Amino acid sequence: MPSLKGIAGTASAALAAALLLCHALLPDGIAGVFHEKGDGGIRKPDVIWVPTPYPVIDKMLEMASIKRGDLLYDLGSGDGRIVITAAQKYRIRAVGYEIDPYLVEEAKMMVKDKGVDGLVRIVCADIYTLDLSAASVITLYLLPDMNLKLLPQLRRCRPGTRIVAYDFGIADTVPDRVERTAGGRIYLWKTPIRFEKRRPKGPGPWKNHR
Ligand SMILES: C[S@@+](CC[C@H](N)C(=O)[O-])C[C@H]1O[C@@H](n2cnc3c(N)ncnc32)[C@H](O)[C@@H]1O
Repeated sequence: MPSLKGIAGTASAALAAALLLCHALLPDGIAGVFHEKGDGGIRKPDVIWVPTPYPVIDKMLEMASIKRGDLLYDLGSGDGRIVITAAQKYRIRAVGYEIDPYLVEEAKMMVKDKGVDGLVRIVCADIYTLDLSAASVITLYLLPDMNLKLLPQLRRCRPGTRIVAYDFGIADTVPDRVERTAGGRIYLWKTPIRFEKRRPKGPGPWKNHR
């Protein structure tokens, strides 16, 4: 199963940036990847849809130490596989936020099909507009700059919220746990998020998220 890093060719940020650039240059309206203007979509996604492999999802949920009463948010939920798996395996409530209306519809059908519509909601939204304070578990499979851009919202999460990210970490932060899988690394942070002690000199992006 290709990963975001795999699709980019290597783990390098330059190639991840190239992926973003290609994405920016392509026209809107490719079904399943970008939505068409006026179809109820919000705007073009910040990254294409690449699903997390199921064995990785199992590991991510295990690392999150899911317990009864948890509320999981998957930010950029694609076909809904993470929220559906969380509901099926742990019987917890879960919300998938996805900007691509085609994927939203597909995920909604999957939720019904798998019989977890009592536990799972799929919402068409831009993740950068969300208040994340109700979540106790947050899952991410996004590009590095997207994770970084989410940091101000993640820092406003309730203490003890578990954030689990696949493939890419969050710059300047110290994860509480990192696990290797065949496809890539999985990172876990428990809020409040800890930051690296060493601070580079001069102004930089770290100024924005302390
Ligand atoms: C790499 S896929 C991960 C899908 C899913 N979380 C999984 O792990 O299988 C990233 C998803 O984020 C969505 N996305 C991109 N930018 C977004 C944004 N600003 N708000 C909400 N979703 C977004 C894409 O449409 C895509 O489905």
